[in-house]
Amino acid sequence: MTMTSLVRGAMGASATTRSYDRVVLDLERIRSHFPAFDNGSEPRFFENAGGSFACRQTTDALNRFYTETKVQPYSKYQMSATAGELMDHSHERWAQALGVTNSEIVFGPSTSMNTYVLSHAFAERIGPGDEVIVTNQDHEANTGATRRMVESTGATLREWQVDPSFGLLGLDALEGLLSAKTKLVTFPHCSNIVGTENDVPAICQLARQAGARTIVDGVSYAPHGFSDVGAMGADVYLFSMYKTFSVHQGLMVLRDELAHELPNQSHYFNADVARKRMSPAGPDHAQVASAGAVLDYVEATTPNHEGDLRRACEAAKHAWQEHEDALLQPVLRNLP
Ligand SMILES: Cc1ncc(COP(=O)(O)O)c(C=O)c1O
Repeated sequence: MTMTSLVRGAMGASATTRSYDRVVLDLERIRSHFPAFDNGSEPRFFENAGGSFACRQTTDALNRFYTETKVQPYSKYQMSATAGELMDHSHERWAQALGVTNSEIVFGPSTSMNTYVLSHAFAERIGPGDEVIVTNQDHEANTGATRRMVESTGATLREWQVDPSFGLLGLDALEGLLSAKTKLVTFPHCSNIVGTENDVPAICQLARQAGARTIVDGVSYAPHGFSDVGAMGADVYLFSMYKTFSVHQGLMVLRDELAHELPNQSHYFNADVARKRMSPAGPDHAQVASAGAVLDYVEATTPNHEGDLRRACEAAKHAWQEHEDALLQPVLRNLP
């Protein structure tokens, strides 16, 4: 169901993994959660570069919002209050899933828009004499806006390059680039070409020791699992929910400290609301309200989580990755 398989452990992958319940995927049950399988037997293409078919929990939530609560939310009358509660519920659910707080969940139209807004905010904090590190493993969405921001501010861009001898981003090379001048490091959670997973906690720790902020592009990783972002130590973690059986929105975890440090990019009257500061437009209420529904699907496929959503996500991640690893074996065997 996912586009690439992750190559784990190559860089001593993340120490954030908690103990988890082993779940063997029941594929028939999983298929029953996807309306795309309802009509006929022709193949369904669940590659997710351009967006995967959504699970039933997502499509039901969207349908309910559009037919029952499609009004201006957060007002006092019942329908409006319910619309607002549904939106807040998505923030709560994702905060639990990713190990962060409600105010740290920011929804935007896409990851590209979220990085674009972020880079505008950083542009007001970065200038000549400062340095920013990007990688040549990044997707354009994570690196392009940052590179343009660096150029426009007169700061210096440093590129952390994949070592051609072993095909990974090496921590030694990062250490050589970091200095007291480094203000920001952007990098992907995993390669979107070969799937190698970067050691996010170790990278974030090195950056933090140098006094730099970190932006992690989790778009390629998220279809393979929702991580404990809170434990990773990143200041920003982004992914696109339309690749994870959810709505067509970008999710950005923006840790509170940085949210208040960066200048507000939203309406002046939103300046005090952390989750609105990097979200300039009025949000898509229906999609925000339906964004959390995919987590009901995660819970439905991981029976022993005892109401602990973080635990359910961890179990699902391991089950998905175990399944992908098995699917990948014939490909790996036949590579020259
Ligand atoms: C690794 C990676 N980062 C970022 C993006 C941009 O995401 P969005 O389409 O939500 O702007 C993509 C899109 O394919 C991607 O593959």
